[in-house]
Amino acid sequence: MEQLMRDFFLFLSKNRALTKLAKRYGLRFGASRFVAGETIELATRVIQDLNKQGLLVTIDYLGEFVDNEKEANEMADNSILAIETIGREKLQSQLSLKMTSMGLDISDNVVLHNMRRILEAAKKNDVFVTIDMEDYSRAQKTLDIFKKLKREYENVGTVIQAYLYRTEKDIKELNEYQPNLRLVKGAYKESPEVAFPVKRDVDENFKKIIKMHMLNGNYTAVATHDDAIIEYTKQLAIEHRINNAQFEFQMLYGIRPEKQIELVEEGYKMRVYVPYGTDWYGYFMRRLAERPANVAFVLKGMFKK
Ligand code: FDA
Repeated sequence: MEQLMRDFFLFLSKNRALTKLAKRYGLRFGASRFVAGETIELATRVIQDLNKQGLLVTIDYLGEFVDNEKEANEMADNSILAIETIGREKLQSQLSLKMTSMGLDISDNVVLHNMRRILEAAKKNDVFVTIDMEDYSRAQKTLDIFKKLKREYENVGTVIQAYLYRTEKDIKELNEYQPNLRLVKGAYKESPEVAFPVKRDVDENFKKIIKMHMLNGNYTAVATHDDAIIEYTKQLAIEHRINNAQFEFQMLYGIRPEKQIELVEEGYKMRVYVPYGTDWYGYFMRRLAERPANVAFVLKGMFKK
């Protein structure tokens, strides 16, 4: 049943008509639990509040189905606006983005032009940029572009997904770049030909790559809400005398906020992924797919409005 619901929400997340409709009607159905607001001003207030509590942030301007150059350029403009706001308001925040929003599916020229514009602005404002990882069909291209950009810019990192069979090899190959990587379980629906279908195997692979990347001496962001993985990371750091400055935990805005504060109080770096913008629908559906228990919360939200 749970798997059916996951598949259903992932299916809904890809619906263009609903995405368009949602944009027109503004944050609904309890989406504001996971999305900071529709404008950079609203997101800034949320970030300031999180920073006051000792939480670091990475901000993401949401955008789905970007398939022409004009839209990709606008997405990049909005990311640059976010970077300039971080600099001006002195927010403790990085930036995250999806390369499909910057033109990955349009052409190499478009995506590289936009990424370089963003990374220049980020360099000027001392902001670190993480390239989110999308579905398997884009993994190789994303890594190729990441490597190219990493040779030109210091302030860029990307994401590696534990559910893919290729991941261990990617971690090994990326080591020569000494990259700052965010490690995650993986959020997309992938075929068993490319990804571990059983959760237990994903969790084991997650631990394996955390250990590899941390022991390679590279900065590691462990992005999870899973207590077992968090405990594993803490123990690994103690056992191998890895300083708390060498790694951080990351969670999504609105998920396990008490745990986020608990980690800060224990002296760990804790970064919250804060999405904002009018294109909230796909992101919201993916969060529901991850944890169908959230649906009860959404239903309550629907009846309140
Ligand atoms: P999982 O979903 O297995 O949950 C483990 C446990 O965590 C649960 O059993 C429960 O105990 C607890 N838990 C989870 N949700 C909870 C909730 N709402 N309330 C209370 N407890 C809860 N993916 C991707 O493919 N590309 C990317 O670029 C990114 N980027 C990214 C950034 C950040 C900061 C995060 C946190 C995650 C991502 N992801 C991602 C998503 C990631 O791949 C994954 O889908 C989700 O983090 C869910 O997996 P968990 O590791 O949290 O464990």
